[in-house]
Amino acid sequence: MSSRAADTEARSLAHWDEAGRAGMEAFYALAVEDYRRMVAARDWASDLRGSAVDGRVRVLDVACGSGKFPAELMRRGLASGVDGMHVEIDLLDPSVFSIAEARSVLGPPFVLRAEHAVRLQDLDRTVGGFDVAWATHALYAIPPDEIGAGVARMTDTLRPGGFGAIVHATTGSHYLRFAEAFRASFAPEATPFTSAEQVTDALRAAGVDPSSSTLRYTVGTDDRAVLEGFLQRCVFDDSVDLATMEAQEPLAGYLASCRDDGTYRFQQEVHVITWTART
Ligand SMILES: C[S@@+](CC[C@H](N)C(=O)[O-])C[C@H]1O[C@@H](n2cnc3c(N)ncnc32)[C@H](O)[C@@H]1O
Repeated sequence: MSSRAADTEARSLAHWDEAGRAGMEAFYALAVEDYRRMVAARDWASDLRGSAVDGRVRVLDVACGSGKFPAELMRRGLASGVDGMHVEIDLLDPSVFSIAEARSVLGPPFVLRAEHAVRLQDLDRTVGGFDVAWATHALYAIPPDEIGAGVARMTDTLRPGGFGAIVHATTGSHYLRFAEAFRASFAPEATPFTSAEQVTDALRAAGVDPSSSTLRYTVGTDDRAVLEGFLQRCVFDDSVDLATMEAQEPLAGYLASCRDDGTYRFQQEVHVITWTART
């Protein structure tokens, strides 16, 4: 890994820690909408039922974070949607804090099977044979020059005919636009976040044929403390306060374009990318 590549991924890892809990909670005050939208976007229960073999389905949750995706699936009735079938889940994340958080939210139909405290790019070759692998708002901190290896490793974890899904924001989304403007204003040496477009290119390079649908929605707040926590967590950098962000170009211009009479509204554009593993 290059030293430039280490910064964004290392800052991500430092924030996915008990010391970063307050920032994580500020972030999810707005980012909770990401999980509502992606769970509503497709029939995940049907994806899981359709991937089951002999009445069981094995899932790899890549970069599981704090388990917001399985929690929202459960909240929306996944247990009845899969007709009482157990969904056996492996949690993968380099952060042991994230794995513990995700583990703590799991309930029916999920049954924890194994944990992998490792970067996706470094996942042991012997781990595989999954019916389903998903990564939801998860791969931004994998450096663009390593996303090919990461995505290839993810596709390789699927059994032939298995179902893959990556939900990821595009270059037109708040997440990527804010990260780019912050980088230009305060952190020119930082490694850029990886975009949905780069993920799709990586999937094609890995030899799969992805399908994609697009979600567009807005998240917003007029609470400046919440806003500051959300924005700092978006870039894993709490060294710059909100007033400084609002004053320094080009970030100031981007934030002004999102502000209306004291309320901020951020446009999200997210790709729901799915594929079937080669048989
Ligand atoms: C926003 S969270 C993912 C949210 C999650 N999908 C959920 O349902 O809550 C991003 C996670 O990616 C993890 N991460 C960072 N670099 C990674 C890498 N190279 N491989 C796998 N996970 C990584 C972080 O530790 C963090 O827990």
